[in-house]
Parts: sequence; C-alpha cells; structure tokens
Amino acid sequence: MGKITLTILKPDAVANGHTGKIIDHILQAGFKIRAMKLIQLDENTAGNFYDIHRERPFFKDLVSFMTSGPVVPMVLEKENAVADFREVIGATDPTKAAPGTIRNLYAKSIDANAVHGSDSDENALRESRFFFSELEEI
Ligand code: CMP
Repeated sequence: MGKITLTILKPDAVANGHTGKIIDHILQAGFKIRAMKLIQLDENTAGNFYDIHRERPFFKDLVSFMTSGPVVPMVLEKENAVADFREVIGATDPTKAAPGTIRNLYAKSIDANAVHGSDSDENALRESRFFFSELEEI
C-alpha cells in the first residue's frame, strides 16, 4: 500500500479558522506532513485539479467553491495513507460522515466539506505532483 495521500483544507475550513484543529487531528491520527502551503486557486487551476469531474453536474459549483478563498494542500505520509485518511475524514456528504471524523466535526455541506482526500494511490501521486511539482522524491 502506498505511503502518501494528498489533502486540501478547503476554503470553508480556512475561512472558519479550523485549519489548526484539522492539522492537529491529522497529526494525532499518525500522519506526517511532507509538504504544505496556503494558496488561492484560480478557475483554471481548480478545473485542472478536478478534471475527472469536468462532465459532472456539480463541476461548476465545485470550481466556484474551491476558488472562493485560500486553501491549504498538504502531502501526508503514513502506511496505507489513502485508505486510512479516508477513514479519518469520513463520507463526502457530511450528514453521512461517522461521528468524530473531520467532516462530521467541521463540514457544513457536500461542497463545503472541509477537506479533500485522494481516492487511490495513483491519484495521490498525481495530485501531490500537481501541487508540489518541486518535490522530486514524490
Ligand atoms: P472531493 O472528494 O474532495 O472532490 C470532489 C468534490 O466534489 C467532493 O469532494 C465534493 O465536495 C464535491 N461534490 C459536490 N457534489 C457532489 C456529488 N454529488 N458527489 C460527489 N462529490 C460532490
């Protein structure tokens, strides 16, 4: 199993001042932060990141939300990182996220759902390189 996953603290989490608590939650769950930055996405960059969702009905709202304020992408490291992190964040729809998960604690809606988590090792690699192309060892 792969050792990295890519998360993004989404605009709702940053704007609501939840960044510190969510980072602490991630560290307490045993992940190491390999890379992290705070950036404002433009439409083009957000659209390219979510390219696989381009034909989905929610694509426009997704890009609009993800460009509404700064975000914090991070590369996280742990054994079995992708699956373990998806446990830690909970279901995409926060009303379905298990108690104690990051989305259960901090998310408000399916768009404003606090955090992103890669869904496969392949995407973890692609998404990590997308935000941190300078990290040669990833
Ligand atoms: P994430 O998994 O980070 O990446 C795609 C995002 O699209 C997802 O989080 C949700 O925030 C958003 N989204 C909005 N509507 C839907 C939907 N119906 N199904 C899946 N994702 C959705």
